Amino acid sequence: MTSHLFYQTRDRRPLLERAEGIYIWDTSGKRYIDGSSGAMVSNIGHSNPNVLTAIRTQMDKSTFGYRLHFENEPAEKLAAKVAELSPKGHNKVFFVSGGSEAVESAVKLARQYAYIRGEDKRSKIISRLPSYHGATMGALALTAYEPLNAPFRAMTMEMPHIPAPTCYLDNDNLTDHDRGIKYADMLKDKIIQEGPENILGFIMEPVGGASTGALVAPDSYYARIREICDEFNILLIYDEVMTGVGRTGKFLACEHWNINPDIIATAKGFGAGYIPLGAMTAREEIVETILSSGGFQHGYTYAGNPIACSAGLAVINEIFKNDLMENTNVVGALLIKGLLKLKNKYPSLVMCAVKDYLLLLRW
Ligand SMILES: Cc1ncc(COP(=O)(O)O)c(C=O)c1O
Repeated sequence: MTSHLFYQTRDRRPLLERAEGIYIWDTSGKRYIDGSSGAMVSNIGHSNPNVLTAIRTQMDKSTFGYRLHFENEPAEKLAAKVAELSPKGHNKVFFVSGGSEAVESAVKLARQYAYIRGEDKRSKIISRLPSYHGATMGALALTAYEPLNAPFRAMTMEMPHIPAPTCYLDNDNLTDHDRGIKYADMLKDKIIQEGPENILGFIMEPVGGASTGALVAPDSYYARIREICDEFNILLIYDEVMTGVGRTGKFLACEHWNINPDIIATAKGFGAGYIPLGAMTAREEIVETILSSGGFQHGYTYAGNPIACSAGLAVINEIFKNDLMENTNVVGALLIKGLLKLKNKYPSLVMCAVKDYLLLLRW
């Protein structure tokens, strides 16, 4: 059958029929284990009856209320829940429909915050190399992956990068602690090199995703990065699009290191494959400063959609009701056991993955 769809390539894929739990069936009846939750999305499994019921119930009431005309209860309830589960001071939630939108919103919030405070020169956000922060032009400017950047370089602002903390590749005699500090201090050097007055913020994934495959830095890295951002008065943005909403055994991965970022972007597991949903949260002072200056000059038509927010609430309920974050720790430990066995057989294949998982779970 000819397809009139196109995405990245001409490659065809099996035709999806239905899905349940960890399984997906194609139209030929073949069953697949959704081992990666799609693109790290379906964190609570497919076709969860409680989420489906929440969506149906909301659909029978209302499917849309434009945010500039109406507030809606699911969006209010979900925002309250997210604020409750977020680090201290993250009392304000801005809903979006995906990860790129969440990152884009974080960038624009950071920029408007500087702009209204008269710090107009602050226009650069430092990111890590390699990194993936999304597909839209603003998020792409932060993404550091040559094949994705090259065609669009002439149209995007060149943002500064520092190396991702790939300590497992280092051949030195440093302790893990010192390696963490070494990589974090690269941020300080970069800020000084670019001129602190030109820097808006630093964006990082607490656990590397698409570009660095579960990369976890030594503990010392996280605290030192926070310290450097404070020292130079630049905003620390955590891209938790992949790691957020329970994926790493905490609601947000920043909790593993007790870090309170200034802005946090989430998506993927938030809608968990049931609905497009993401969020950006920020320290209340940042949001209030912008709101007091006349408002955030940014927004999306589908933001805070009542169906999406009902689904998001139901997803979070399921995570807590079924203790899925604790389960992440249990199956994570199992995974390590299996990986360690494989490591002996194929040392070059799984060495870094094992090390990163061990670091995350404090083994
Ligand atoms: C860390 C990170 N940020 C942002 C994005 C972009 O999210 P989306 O594809 O939902 O726009 C992704 C997607 O893989 C991601 O992994």
